[in-house]
Amino acid sequence: MNSPRIASPFPLTRSADRDVSVHESADAPSVLFVDQSGQLGGAEFSMLPLAEVCAARAKVVLLSDGPFRTRLEALGVTVDVIGNARVSGIGRQSLRLGWFRALPGIVRQVHAVAAEAKRFDVLFLNTQKALVIGALGKPLHRRPVIWHLHDIMSPEHFGFVQRLVVKWLVRLAVDRVVANSHASAQSLALLTGRVADLPPVVHNGIDTDAFNVAGRLNAADVVALRQRLGLPEHAWLAGLFSRLAPWKGQHVAIAALARVPDAHLVLVGAALFGEDDYVRHLHELAAQFGVSERVHFMGFRDDMAAWMKAMDVVLHTSTDAEPFGRVIVEGMAAGRPVIATAAGGVIEIVRHLRNGWLVEPGNVEALAGAMRTLRASPHLAQRLADKAQADAQRDFSLGTYVRKMIAAIADTVH
Ligand code: UDP
Ligand code: GLC
Repeated sequence: MNSPRIASPFPLTRSADRDVSVHESADAPSVLFVDQSGQLGGAEFSMLPLAEVCAARAKVVLLSDGPFRTRLEALGVTVDVIGNARVSGIGRQSLRLGWFRALPGIVRQVHAVAAEAKRFDVLFLNTQKALVIGALGKPLHRRPVIWHLHDIMSPEHFGFVQRLVVKWLVRLAVDRVVANSHASAQSLALLTGRVADLPPVVHNGIDTDAFNVAGRLNAADVVALRQRLGLPEHAWLAGLFSRLAPWKGQHVAIAALARVPDAHLVLVGAALFGEDDYVRHLHELAAQFGVSERVHFMGFRDDMAAWMKAMDVVLHTSTDAEPFGRVIVEGMAAGRPVIATAAGGVIEIVRHLRNGWLVEPGNVEALAGAMRTLRASPHLAQRLADKAQADAQRDFSLGTYVRKMIAAIADTVH
C-alpha cells in the first residue's frame, strides 16, 4: 500500500516489508491477538505486521479503542474492541485499589476474550493487561498462550502488585514468552526466578527501505524538506521522536539544548497515555531555560522517515532503561547519526562511536557535549550515520523479525 501523499517522496511507513510472504499456508495456525491499547505505541507498531501477515486466519481484540484499530483495519485485519474504562485506567504504578476497583470489568473481559479464543489455535498477548486478561481465562479457553514481552519488568517501571501478577501468570498460564530485547528477557527471568531459563529474544524489525526511500539528501533537498515540514531551514536540528512521557526524558533534551547555542530541538510525538502535566512542565522548562523559540512541539506524526531525514541528529533520551527503542533503529535506517542513552535494549543496538553515540541516562552535560561534538564534526557524524544505516539494514529487517515471530507463534501450538 503506498502513501496517499503522492507528491511526497516519503511514503507512510508500511507495516509489511516487501519480502514478507503472506502467512496463508493451510497448516498455519489461526491466531487471536490481544492488545490493551488503541494508541499507537511501539508495541502496537511491532504487532501490526504480524497481524497483517496472519490476517486471513486471525483476529485482533483491543481492550480500548483508538487509531490502532483504524491502522489494523486498513491492513485488512478484523478487529473487535472489548473495552472497560476501569481496566483501561489502571496505570503502570497502580496500587492494589486500582486492580480491586477494576475487578468486575476484568472478569467480564476475561470471559469475552476466552469466548473468542476458543475459535482460534493460539492466543498472542501483546501487552501486560492483555496478558492478565488472556492468561486468567486459560481454564476457560484452554488454548496455548504466547506473550510478547515489550517491557523491562523492574521496580523503576512497574509497581509491586503488577509485577507479582505478571510473575504468577507467566509461571502458571503462559506457554511461551518472546522478549523484545535481552534486557527485557533478563528482567523477566529475575522476576520469575527462572534465571537459567531466559525467554528467547526477537529484536523488532522495521521497514528499513521506507526510512531511506529518498536516499541521501543534498543541502537543497534538506531545505525543501524543512520548508514542507515547517521547520527552520538553516538551523542545526536535533530531533526527538517519542511519545511525551517523563521516562522518555524530553526534559533532559530541553536542558541540554540550553547548552548548545543556536541549535533547535524538534519534539515529534504526543502524550499518548494522559501525561498532560508533563507536557505543561516541558513548555515551562523551555521558558525557564530561555529556549522556547528553539523548541518545536510537533505532536504525533505519521511520516517519521521524512521527519528524521530533516534532522542533523536523532536523539533518544530515556531516563529509565529502554526495553528496545524502535525510534533508534528508525533513525539509523534513515541515515541519521543517533545519540542514545546507554541502558536496557539500547546497548544491543548502538555501539558507542561505531554506529552511534551513547550517553549516560539523565546526564544533561553528556548529551549536550555529544550534540556539540557532532555539530562540530560533520565527518564523524556522517561516518556514524553510514555505519548505523548498514547495521540497521543487516540486523533489524522487518522480514527477519516477522519470520522469527511467526515461527514462535507456530511453535507455541505444536
Ligand atoms: N511514532 C510515530 N509518530 C510519532 C512518534 C512516534 O509514528 O509522532 C512511532 C515511532 O516511529 C516508533 C514508535 O512510535 O515506531 C515508538 O516506539 P518505541 O519503541 O521507540 O517507543 P515506545 O513508545 O514503544 O516506548
Ligand atoms: C515498548 C517499549 C519500547 C519497544 C517497543 C517495541 O513500547 O517501551 O522500548 O521498542 O515496546 O518492542
